[in-house]
Amino acid sequence: MSSNDDIRTITHTASGAACKIHAFGATVLSYTTGNREVIFVSKLAKLDGSKPVRGGVPLVFPIFGPPKSGTMPQHGFARRNRWTFLDSYDTKESAGARYELKFCDVKDGLGDSNDWANEKYDCTLVCTLDCNASQVTTSLEIQNTGSAAFPFQALLHTYYSVAGKAALQPGKCFVSGLAGYTVADKVTKAAETVSDAEAITITGEVDRVYDPPNGTTSANVRIHAGEGASVELTATGTLDDVALPISCVVWNPFIEKAKGLSDFGDEEYFEMICVEPGILKDSVVLDPGKTARLTQHIKV
Ligand code: BG6
Repeated sequence: MSSNDDIRTITHTASGAACKIHAFGATVLSYTTGNREVIFVSKLAKLDGSKPVRGGVPLVFPIFGPPKSGTMPQHGFARRNRWTFLDSYDTKESAGARYELKFCDVKDGLGDSNDWANEKYDCTLVCTLDCNASQVTTSLEIQNTGSAAFPFQALLHTYYSVAGKAALQPGKCFVSGLAGYTVADKVTKAAETVSDAEAITITGEVDRVYDPPNGTTSANVRIHAGEGASVELTATGTLDDVALPISCVVWNPFIEKAKGLSDFGDEEYFEMICVEPGILKDSVVLDPGKTARLTQHIKV
């Protein structure tokens, strides 16, 4: 279990911008600049370490969604463990912090009958956060510290706060920049198609994985999170310094799913939209001694 001391505020003194980060999951909980809160956290979110935080920027690793074999909780173990604070800084340019999770310190979320639970693999994860008045950057670094190569998926499950509770108003809340991506719709389960939508809006439950066209690596997406509250997201990934394609998940639980989530208010689907960049496309394998990185820059 964690305590309130586990929530650290990182303030950029020069601009007044600030972030909050929870050691449980190294989950970023807040980014404020001016009077604006960019990140959504449910009023029912558990912050005591009993479950992953419903909101903020949970870190998804080593699997996205349910496991393909054996058991492991959905979205893996990174968001279900307490990370170690490494250091923080506050300079003229920006303020930030780093957290680390060594595999030997993983206590929860391993499941069983899988290669992680059987200790075939070893890794060290480092989460970095950097903010100033105009942007927040979050990053997940994955080091293979073992002797076996492991396959993985990784994702920054970012919950955006939608100004004016306008998530269902198509003129005010939409996501652009994913036209030309191949979309797998987890709600309709329709065959994958190439998206021609200039703007993705919420008209019902949205749970879609957008994979980039071949040759596109970084994701450049605009999230219109209510009137006057748009952000520009740029996300990149590398494997041993070679660029990886970045997918984007767009998620809003809508009415029925919201009711089924014990740590999410019945009406909060009006107030949030998740846009989650990740390393999901292709089967990516990290060799011993190698490092992969997933980074997102959110510009206000
Ligand atoms: C999204 C998935 O990334 O996360 C959805 O695409 C899932 O299928 C959602 O419902 C929330 O997941 P969880 O495990 O935090 O409830």
